[in-house]
Amino acid sequence: MPRIIAIANQKGGVGKTTTAINLSSALAHFNRTVLLVDMDPQGNAGRGLGIDITLLKSTVFECLTQACSPKDCIVTTAVKGLDVLPANLRLASLEASLYKTPVEEPFALLGKALGSECDHYDYIVLDCPPSLGLLSINALACADSVLIPVQCEYFAMEALAAILSSISNVQNDLNPKLKIEGFLLTMYDARTQLGTEIASEVRRLFKENTFLVSIPRNQSVSESQAKQMPVTSFRPSSQGSIAYFGLAREVIDHEEK
Ligand SMILES: Nc1ncnc2c1ncn2[C@@H]1O[C@H](COP(=O)(O)OP(=O)(O)OP(=O)(O)O)[C@@H](O)[C@H]1O
Ligand SMILES: [Mg+2]
Repeated sequence: MPRIIAIANQKGGVGKTTTAINLSSALAHFNRTVLLVDMDPQGNAGRGLGIDITLLKSTVFECLTQACSPKDCIVTTAVKGLDVLPANLRLASLEASLYKTPVEEPFALLGKALGSECDHYDYIVLDCPPSLGLLSINALACADSVLIPVQCEYFAMEALAAILSSISNVQNDLNPKLKIEGFLLTMYDARTQLGTEIASEVRRLFKENTFLVSIPRNQSVSESQAKQMPVTSFRPSSQGSIAYFGLAREVIDHEEK
């Protein structure tokens, strides 16, 4: 059975999609088979892997509304072992479509859509949007664990209270098996006082749950996105790649423990 990891934080721009793309591709480099599912109508997970999402007729939206099945939508990528289930702006109309045609379990749509068809993957990584609405809750409701990127910036700590409260609601109401995979420090710059302060605050509060590796702010990471490829393929020996390979190792180690 695949291990399903949701990458979530309702705060925007903290490195969720960057982490989803590069963790997925780093896991694939370690010979794991991975499906990256884009749960964000912005569609950046697919775009970041070189997919022209605007023209796609079959996306996550059609899977969630049962208009098609994942096998009709999954796209293979240039990274061996990594497939993606892309999204585009149509996903933003999911709530409206459920309003028109209500379903019994609106938070179980993703779990049902992935169903047994995706069982052959080692990992399924879910890139969540910057909100704690229907799409993120669908991801948390079917995940085994949630990885929370924390940008070493102002207001990072305030955002954590909201995501922790949503996680605990989902654990109580929808998915008791949901665990915290870990907090991941992103865009870390050890030269700034704010960066080191936030990093040590997160490590103090969430000791065992904070990944040992932190992701540095690294130009190769942002350049790789302009090239629409993971940094682990674009510049495998950059500081950004080394950090994401380290993150994948820790994720694999968690499972082996
Ligand atoms: N380690 C890094 N080094 C340099 N730039 C980074 C790094 N991580 C992310 N970025 C940049 O920061 C911006 C936000 O990153 P990203 O899109 O991954 O965040 P997000 O949390 O998915 O955003 P959203 O909430 O809009 O979905 C992007 O422009 C990305 O290129
Ligand atoms: Mg994103």
